[in-house]
This record gives sequence, structure tokens and C-alpha cells, in this order.
Amino acid sequence: MIIMTYNPYSLEGKTVLVTGASSGIGQSTAIECSKMGASVILTGRNEERLSLTLEKLEGTGHSMIVANLDDETEIEKIVEMASQLNGCVCNAGIGLGTKPAVFYKKKELEQIFTTNTISSILLLKGLVKRKKLINPSSVVFTSSIEGNAITTIGNGMYGMSKAALTAYAKTVALELAPKGIRCNVVTPGMVKTPLTAPTGELTQEQLDADAAKYPLGRYGNPQDIAWGIIYLLSDAACWITGTVLKIDGGITLV
Ligand SMILES: NC(=O)c1ccc[n+]([C@@H]2O[C@H](COP(=O)([O-])OP(=O)(O)OC[C@H]3O[C@@H](n4cnc5c(N)ncnc54)[C@H](OP(=O)(O)O)[C@@H]3O)[C@@H](O)[C@H]2O)c1
Repeated sequence: MIIMTYNPYSLEGKTVLVTGASSGIGQSTAIECSKMGASVILTGRNEERLSLTLEKLEGTGHSMIVANLDDETEIEKIVEMASQLNGCVCNAGIGLGTKPAVFYKKKELEQIFTTNTISSILLLKGLVKRKKLINPSSVVFTSSIEGNAITTIGNGMYGMSKAALTAYAKTVALELAPKGIRCNVVTPGMVKTPLTAPTGELTQEQLDADAAKYPLGRYGNPQDIAWGIIYLLSDAACWITGTVLKIDGGITLV
């Protein structure tokens, strides 16, 4: 007899904090987590878009915290306001466009590392110190194939910030394993979100041609990444920590 309720990927009864939940991959992750039964705590800077995400969630028990992760006191606010968590998705991130390495400015480097790397480090530090992550729990970081599996001319600042995030995730996975906190990374390829929206530099034909280079024939959708994150949040991944899950339509194979 098949028991239809058997689902090790379920997030039923779990509470998950998602950063960058006002847009793109974070928004989709929050929505998909709610569909899998989780109560979701959304965070982002833009209150209006965060509220739109909140409206799209299924089930009850969700909440949102408007906060700027570049500001340490606002990170502390998230930690303070968060309830006990079974999961945390450190997903918020920015790009600063492309620039050759010899033209990097200190301010830009500080900005990209603050948002893409340091904010997640400080958030996790706060959550652990305040015992907000229960035993067992799962933390997932959104890194990128850039800096981890590929190197693109002009994209070094972004790649460095993401490579550093992955390196951190592996260290902290080791350090937090005794507390039952698993830490894993997803590295997406090109995903269609506001972050990667066409800026006018490339024509639609050029973008279509680039997407066609992906062995699976297209760029990613936010849901493609959300489902990988859900796997790592779920009990199905209970013996997985310190790993890097590439979700890239096969582009790093070619
Ligand atoms: N799209 C891709 O192709 C791709 C590929 C690889 C990796 N990634 C990574 O995936 C993650 C999500 O990207 P996305 O494509 O979904 O981008 P997105 O649509 O631009 O969303 C970025 C999210 O990060 C939040 N955020 C940015 N800076 C913040 C700050 N200082 N404080 C609080 N929240 C902040 C934004 O919040 P507000 O809008 O409310 O400010 C927004 O919710 C990023 O880490 C990105 O680097 C994306």
C-alpha cells in the first residue's frame, strides 16, 4: 500500500527565514517553501515588494521584517524579531555590473562584500549566538557558478564575493555540525530575475543565443533554484552539510 503522506522533502511544521525575499530567487523560494508547508519569515529592504511576496504565500503563520542587511543594527533587528528557526536561506545579493580588475575601487569592493558576503556571515553569527536555529536546522547560502565554477572577464568583484561566501559556508558547516546546524550552498547559473534583466547592452537575439548554449536549452527560472534550496532545507538532506549544489542547466559542463 502506498502511503500518500510520505514526503521526506516536506517543510511541514518548519519555520524558515528567507533573505532577499522581495524579488527573484528569494521571492520564489519563500513561495515554494510555503507550498511545502513552512511558515516563512521574509526579509528585504523594499516593503512594498516584500508585502507582495507575503500575499503570495500559501498557508498561515508567515511574517515579514523590513531591513537593510548592509547595516549591522538592522541585522540585529532581524535576529531579535525572528522566532525559533528550522531553516535560514541567506540569499540576498547584488551585482555591480562588469569592470576590469585594474579599475576596481575600494568603495565598490566594500559594497559588494558587505552585501553578498559579510551580511550573511553576521546574520548567521547573530542567529547562532541568540540560539535562534534549533537542533537540527539547515542554512542555505545562494552563491553563484561565477567565482566558484566559472570565471568571466569583468565579473571578478561579484565572483570574489560569491567564492568567499562558499568558502565561509564550508568552514561554518564544520564548526556548526556539533550543534546540528547544516550549512550548504547553491550555485545557480543564469536565472531570469530583475538582477539579470536585459539592460539594453544586448539584444534579445543575443540573449536567446546565449541561453541556447545551456545544455538544457534555457536560462533558469527562480523556481529551479528554489526547489534545490527546499531539498537542502528538508529532512531529505539531513546527512548533507558543507556541500555545493550546482543548479545551472549544465552550462559548466561545456
Ligand atoms: N539571477 C541570477 O542569474 C543569479 C545567478 C547566481 C546567483 N544569484 C544570486 O541569487 C541571489 C538572489 O538574486 P536574484 O537574481 O533573485 O536578484 P534580485 O531579484 O535582484 O533580488 C535580490 C534580493 O536581494 C535583496 N537585497 C539586496 N541588497 C540587500 C540589502 N542590502 N539588504 C537587504 N536585502 C537586500 C533585495 O531586496 P530589496 O529589493 O528589497 O532591496 C532582493 O530581494 C543573489 O545572491 C544573487 O547573487 C543570482
